Amino acid sequence: MKKRLIAMLIVPLTVSLTALAQKVDKVTAQQFVDLQQGERVYAGFRRAHAKGICVTGEFVSNGRLAAFSRATIFKPGATPFTGRFSIAGNNPTAPDLKAPVRSLALSFVSSASQQWRLAMNTPPVTAVSDPHSFYQQLQALKAGPEAITAFFRAHPESADFLAWKARYQPTASFATEQYHSINAFYLVDESGQRRAVRWSFEPRANKPVTQAQHKDALHDELQQRLAQQTVVFDWVFTFAGAGDDENNPAKQWPDNRQRVVVGELEISAWQPQSSGHCHVINFDPLVLPDGIEPTRDPILRARSAAYAESYRRRAWERLTAGGEGAKND
Ligand code: HEM
Repeated sequence: MKKRLIAMLIVPLTVSLTALAQKVDKVTAQQFVDLQQGERVYAGFRRAHAKGICVTGEFVSNGRLAAFSRATIFKPGATPFTGRFSIAGNNPTAPDLKAPVRSLALSFVSSASQQWRLAMNTPPVTAVSDPHSFYQQLQALKAGPEAITAFFRAHPESADFLAWKARYQPTASFATEQYHSINAFYLVDESGQRRAVRWSFEPRANKPVTQAQHKDALHDELQQRLAQQTVVFDWVFTFAGAGDDENNPAKQWPDNRQRVVVGELEISAWQPQSSGHCHVINFDPLVLPDGIEPTRDPILRARSAAYAESYRRRAWERLTAGGEGAKND
């Protein structure tokens, strides 16, 4: 009798705790973007990665991925793109060399119905594997060094990210960094077979053109470089092996996984972000062509929702007030 009473009490308690956990776990896109934009709103600009520069060029596929993905872009030949280099943060005039993360985003339009948007960062993994923890990480970063140290202590899944951070040496050029998909996706071949992959863009250049230290050092270096030469990256796919969890972006896959170099990304020109075409693109990582599919990685979904919310805000500001972002780079 006593046992039955205890069981009756425990079951509803467990249920309501689970319900509570689910409620707390849910971070909305609005909450993310509120936190990322902070107190000072830069009207008309992206709420994250606000400082950047548009680039254009083409991807030349060598055809080696065509057996694994039916996406048109992987057939041999060239596909033009609009892209954007950026630094992390909400401030469109932040000093380039202080940013902890650098980024490359790309938009391919293969035909009227086939588009692909990609947004990559310099770390190969995230520090955490779910949106709620990512939100708490952002809160800790805002709170200061003690909070972030405590955060990492409480999150052992950050080990691979911290190992990368410890060995990472920022370079003096956007053109000499490696950019990673971090989240995994599926390649889908003609027969419908799916394989989990991550990808990276690996630089051909290894030296900066200038060694400037000023606020816009990375942006100026890129402009000077593009006046002299095309910037080339190898696009490299890494296939998941047995035991690799494609839904966990915080876990590094072992080095011995199969890698395929699928072609060259050739960047030939730049435009200011206020007038270049990249400004009106939302680099939502869930805009995918036939032949590429998303994994169930929950961070991927959170990204898509947050990018839409950020886009909604900046587009509205530009429409209604002319938005500062319409005038400044
Ligand atoms: C839950 C996790 C994340 C959230 C909430 C988030 C949020 C955002 C937001 C709000 C923007 C601005 C979008 C716009 O206005 O166009 C943005 C930009 C960006 N994010 Fe994330 N992000 C997350 C994770 C990631 C990860 C894992 C990567 C790298 C793989 C990444 C790479 C980028 C890049 C490259 C941009 C700039 C794209 C551009 O040039 O327009 N983000 N992010």
